[in-house]
Amino acid sequence: MAWALTPLTEEQREIQKVAREFALAEIAPYSEAWDRDQYFEPAIVAKLGALGFLGMMIPEQYDGLGLDTLTYLVALEEIAIVDASVAVMLSVHNSLPTQMLLRWGSEEQKERFLKPLARGELLGAFALSEPEAGSDAASLQTQAVRDGDDWILNGTKAWVSSGTKGDVILAMARTDSPDDRRGARGISTFIITPDLPGFSIGKKEDKMGLRASPTVQLRFSDMRVPGDRLLGQQGNGFIYAMQSLDNGRLGIAAQSVGIAEAALRHAVAYAAERKQFGKPIKEFQAIQFKLADMACRVASARALLHMSATAKDRGERITQFGSMAKLTASETAMWVTTQAIQIFGGYGYVKEYPVERLFRDAKVTEIYEGTSEIQRIVIARELYSHT
Ligand code: CAA
Repeated sequence: MAWALTPLTEEQREIQKVAREFALAEIAPYSEAWDRDQYFEPAIVAKLGALGFLGMMIPEQYDGLGLDTLTYLVALEEIAIVDASVAVMLSVHNSLPTQMLLRWGSEEQKERFLKPLARGELLGAFALSEPEAGSDAASLQTQAVRDGDDWILNGTKAWVSSGTKGDVILAMARTDSPDDRRGARGISTFIITPDLPGFSIGKKEDKMGLRASPTVQLRFSDMRVPGDRLLGQQGNGFIYAMQSLDNGRLGIAAQSVGIAEAALRHAVAYAAERKQFGKPIKEFQAIQFKLADMACRVASARALLHMSATAKDRGERITQFGSMAKLTASETAMWVTTQAIQIFGGYGYVKEYPVERLFRDAKVTEIYEGTSEIQRIVIARELYSHT
């Protein structure tokens, strides 16, 4: 299984194999414990960095591997099949902060931040949401005020993945003034590092799933940010965030396909070995139909994802495809993991078997980087934008 619906090149198959072997050797033995203990293993970042996996789509000129999107997503799926928490760390790092620096960073910012991020010496994070600004991201309230050459930032960012370990955080803040609000156009992006005075890590969330991926609030209290940490143009931060999320959503789709693929494999194996009424349960049509539907949905989600990735690599705008792939794959992950638990019966409901974790991990894919409802809004809007 886990066949590619887009024919993969030899290089893509080789990188897929490297990712698969790495995940099985370096992650699989520890996943259950990391989930139980909510433990994030820093050594994994260094090891993935040594493979080049933290700069997969960054050109060699900036110390990355210079791979295309499809290759990155194929590798990401292999990691997600084994551990969705490690996968989200990789997805956020490769899709959001590094791509933002590549696209809108100055040469000095690329030298200072992008190169070490691509080498895996630093880990990247992305801070858009706030306690009162989730789906309505443009309503964020973190305020940046000019002070000479510097900016002073005040506010709280929420739901920041890899937040306790993020060395370089691309954060969105308002740069319009409270008496001249400019909506989405009043938001800018700043390159934040934890050494800035006034930076602190707030509440760590105790989550249902992805427990080995630390999700935190970040507090900025009169945080002094040097002027050269502004990314790109003042007032373009919301657009940068949206354009980056178009790509980020492909990463979450790959993570979702990986979770679904893992649940399908476990269900196939269990149905062959579990006997009831004198025969393996795979011989009952009720189980066969479920497995067939699960396989169809996983294959369909992967096909849409690969199609979207190749569209992006051709340079096409993928706002609609990004949302379609993310919506389809995340709902597939939730549906397939639910069916897998049903096939396992009582054993699916306990932590002794892996489908319980897959089910918990799947849920957030319908929520973060835009809920399923937001994806439907984006898809529907795009249907009208071309008429
Ligand atoms: N590409 C380029 N520009 C875009 C864009 C895109 N995909 N989407 C919007 N824009 C532009 C619009 O064209 C508009 O520009 P102008 O000012 O020039 O007209 C501007 O941005 C404002 O756009 P909208 O009027 O459409 O904005 P809106 O307030 O109606 O919001 C939304 C649109 C789609 C609902 C958006 O708020 C959204 O995506 N919300 C979900 C937020 C989200 O995904 N959060 C994820 C948090 S990050 C996370 O989860 C990461 C993690 O750690 C795992």
